[in-house]
Amino acid sequence: MPHFSSLLISWYLENGRALPWRETKDPYHILLSEIILQQTQVCQGLAYYQRFLHKYPTVNHLASASQDEVMQLWQGLGYYSRARNLHQAAKQIAQLGHFPRTYNEILKLKGVGAYTASAIASFAFNLPHAAIDGNAYRVLSRCFAINTPIDSTIGKKEFEQLAKEIIDPKRPALFNQAMMDLGATCC
Ligand code: ADE
Repeated sequence: MPHFSSLLISWYLENGRALPWRETKDPYHILLSEIILQQTQVCQGLAYYQRFLHKYPTVNHLASASQDEVMQLWQGLGYYSRARNLHQAAKQIAQLGHFPRTYNEILKLKGVGAYTASAIASFAFNLPHAAIDGNAYRVLSRCFAINTPIDSTIGKKEFEQLAKEIIDPKRPALFNQAMMDLGATCC
């Protein structure tokens, strides 16, 4: 459904938030931002994102750090398993020798589930995977008048199918960023 996607992306280009992880295609930067944003609001996450990149400018720097040092830098963000997972993921990438470039390979990184893998795949590699979280469910259920409960298996399938149909295959990154912003700021 190209019409919905074009309207959504036009809205985003006018009203979207300028955020540092949207200015980059570096998959490590995007992984870091997505792990932080799993359970943290953008306004709180920003400072941690900058701090991590300052201390660990590349994924190899992070992989070589001690666990204590990483945990210390995460101090204050909560949900500390994220920091351990991020550190493990950095080690996986360092061992691999490059950042994984397909959805299924990205999904193998520690702490990366379907949503985060879709976000990274689309933002860093322009792959057409829809990132569906609570925000996206809200947008889709309102825009498409769907009442199926999202905590049911059938509901999840229905929303996933719909997102697959409406994602702009040429602009998946913009589509996902737009869904996130519409859900977070207006919906
Ligand atoms: N929440 C999760 N990922 C995000 C992103 N890339 N931008 C804004 N909010 C988000």
